[in-house]
Amino acid sequence: MLICIEGIDGSGKSTLAQKLAQSLQDAGRSVVLTKEPGGSKLGKQLREILQTQPVPINPISEFLLFAADRAQHVNEVIKPALAAGKVVITDRMGDSSLVYQGYGRGIDKKNILLVNDWALQGITPDLTLYVKIDGTIAAQRVKNRGSLSAFEKEHAVFVERLITGFNEIYADRKNVITLDGTQSPEELSLTAGKAIDQWINQQNL
Ligand code: TYD
Repeated sequence: MLICIEGIDGSGKSTLAQKLAQSLQDAGRSVVLTKEPGGSKLGKQLREILQTQPVPINPISEFLLFAADRAQHVNEVIKPALAAGKVVITDRMGDSSLVYQGYGRGIDKKNILLVNDWALQGITPDLTLYVKIDGTIAAQRVKNRGSLSAFEKEHAVFVERLITGFNEIYADRKNVITLDGTQSPEELSLTAGKAIDQWINQQNL
């Protein structure tokens, strides 16, 4: 099973990913916790470039670097883990490009979907957890973390475009659970755990 966690920076999704991986492991499942960008060796180098870009790079180049990370991640990490029967939890995947590069940077979403499909080679999340949060609260959390990545330095209007994007793409998508990101990390992982159990029961997995 492939579970993807999505949301804006400061939504609490990375902590949620860690807590979920831990609780699934405690329940006896074999879990791989991974992320985009940076889930593979090549991806770690791409992540460094993308997070520390001193001057903004062209949005299409930016997307293609995320797509390169994605193709490597799927082949090196996700496919082998799924083939070995593991539960894979990924902190971001293709939807982040649709939202950050499509809604945020304004590049053609059709091309993003096309290249994402190519990079993902038929691998799509069985379940997506969308951690929804207000831009102001998320910005405050990000600020409290200290040093900011290139994306975290973006202005509030950019973040509002991301929120619109996530809300729009998940409005009528199946297999998406929307979670309230204002909850404490403990509450969030409890709610998510319950929602996943319910979802698994519904699917008869
Ligand atoms: P993330 O790993 O969430 O940041 P961190 O671990 O530093 O909190 O993601 C890195 C940044 O990259 C994040 O700001 C979102 C951005 N991003 C995109 O713009 N497009 C993408 O396709 C992905 C996967 C991430």
